[in-house]
Amino acid sequence: MILEAIVTTENDDGSTNIAPMGPRIEQGFHEFILRPFATSQTCQNLLRIREGVMHVTDDVGLIAQFAVHGNSNELGDWYADLRPARTVRGMYLASACRTYEFRVLSIDDLQDRVTLHCEVVDQLQLREFWGFNRAKHAVIEAAIAATRIGILSDDEIRQEFSRAAIIVGKTGGEQEHSALQFLQSYWQEKRSC
Ligand SMILES: Cc1cc2nc3c(=O)[nH]c(=O)nc-3n(C[C@H](O)[C@H](O)[C@H](O)COP(=O)(O)O)c2cc1C
Repeated sequence: MILEAIVTTENDDGSTNIAPMGPRIEQGFHEFILRPFATSQTCQNLLRIREGVMHVTDDVGLIAQFAVHGNSNELGDWYADLRPARTVRGMYLASACRTYEFRVLSIDDLQDRVTLHCEVVDQLQLREFWGFNRAKHAVIEAAIAATRIGILSDDEIRQEFSRAAIIVGKTGGEQEHSALQFLQSYWQEKRSC
């Protein structure tokens, strides 16, 4: 099954890269497969240092933000949230529900999406997962659409955002409203460029 997670990795200059990624979870969270695009910073970092931290979170503000702005030089409030990982090189996000520190066991880079087989080497339970909420899921879909601006048509993105706005309006809290607003502003900004 694919988990919608956040992965932190260390950049060349020692800063932290944060990006939503969808690992395929294998064997009860002992191993997983990451499939980052070769062009992503996450992929470049993992090919170089071969370790990182995968997070389970219910914070869709975090997912929205880092779907479109990944580097810790632009982190804002989330920067204060970073702590040194216990076993691997890099940092983890202390506001996550759970963290999985991992090492890359094998790499298949023959396609646009690189396949990285990863082994969990340490884990932390930080807080409970909030629970299912339709608005959180809708924001995740909108964040995925935002990463596909220029690939999806304007109409497809508008439809995704309109669907999300209805669900967030009915079932969301402050975090979901501001995450969706952030993604909508990002889209408007991109369209006017
Ligand atoms: C929920 C979610 C899941 C994602 N999963 C992946 C993935 O598995 N592989 C990938 O390359 N990009 C994925 N993305 C898109 C990346 O997060 C996005 O391209 C990001 O800008 C990459 O950041 P980076 O270049 O800092 O690594 C996902 C985005 C979202 C919102």
